[in-house]
Amino acid sequence: MKIGIIGGGAIGLLVSSYLSSVHDVTIYVRRPEQREELIKDGIHVTNSSKVNCVRSLTIDEMNKEDCLIICTKQQQVQDVLQHIHNKNNHSFLIFLQNGMGHIDLLKKIGQPVLVGIVEHGALKLDDHTVQHTGNGMIKLAAFSKGILDIDRLVFELNQPEFPVVAVDGWRKLLHGKLIVNAVINPLTAMFGVRNGDIIANPYIYELAKALCRETARVLELDFPEQLQCVTAVISNTSENVSSMLKDIQAPRQTEIDAITGYILTISKKEIPYTTFVYHSVKALEMKKGIRY
Ligand code: PAF
Repeated sequence: MKIGIIGGGAIGLLVSSYLSSVHDVTIYVRRPEQREELIKDGIHVTNSSKVNCVRSLTIDEMNKEDCLIICTKQQQVQDVLQHIHNKNNHSFLIFLQNGMGHIDLLKKIGQPVLVGIVEHGALKLDDHTVQHTGNGMIKLAAFSKGILDIDRLVFELNQPEFPVVAVDGWRKLLHGKLIVNAVINPLTAMFGVRNGDIIANPYIYELAKALCRETARVLELDFPEQLQCVTAVISNTSENVSSMLKDIQAPRQTEIDAITGYILTISKKEIPYTTFVYHSVKALEMKKGIRY
């Protein structure tokens, strides 16, 4: 299958590398320097001895693909959609963003859309090197109505060492990941710690529980079940530097609005812990001079 991956960040590199062992993969990146580096050196996943060669192009050079997997941050989705609309002929579009900020944009797409979550931990070391810091799965759900062959698509993408599965109900899927991000991302960004430190430090873990309780209530999910799930993700990605901490360190815009901001927008009640971490991350962005 011809697969296009949009985004040269940690997840884009990881997904491209694994899928390229079975498929004809092109990775689309923003910067020509990264494209050159990928063409010259291929993608190196540090935990594997393999260096995978993939085709690399800039996003302006996009070709028709059987399946396009969008691995960019929330804030780039609008721009990516502009490029996709210009080449309005891919068979499937798969969006793998954290948070819910992109959902309204996806409703306007005419082609079959799937949304998904990535459970892997990944750390980009340079423009062509990624460290696979935590194993997990990619879970996909149909977003557009009437997608008939999701099972066949998932069968093509799934690999024993890089599992891809289909699940029912995109909202439930994204809400489950939203809780994970609403707990892990702001706390790691605020305290400047790796994911595993949330459990290692009992004071941060108390805050994690409070955030998880509030978010579960807003999303009408079961708190003990969600806490168990968040704790499992923290353990599985304990060495990970969360995407929000990376953004603060970079420094560049975080996904706080699409994650915590979204929860504040839909909550009908006061949610003090969530409000506090929202303002804390916004304050950190401002302190770092991040403008958008
Ligand atoms: O955003 C992230 O960093 C990831 O979604 C997760 C699961 C929190 C792991 O770091």
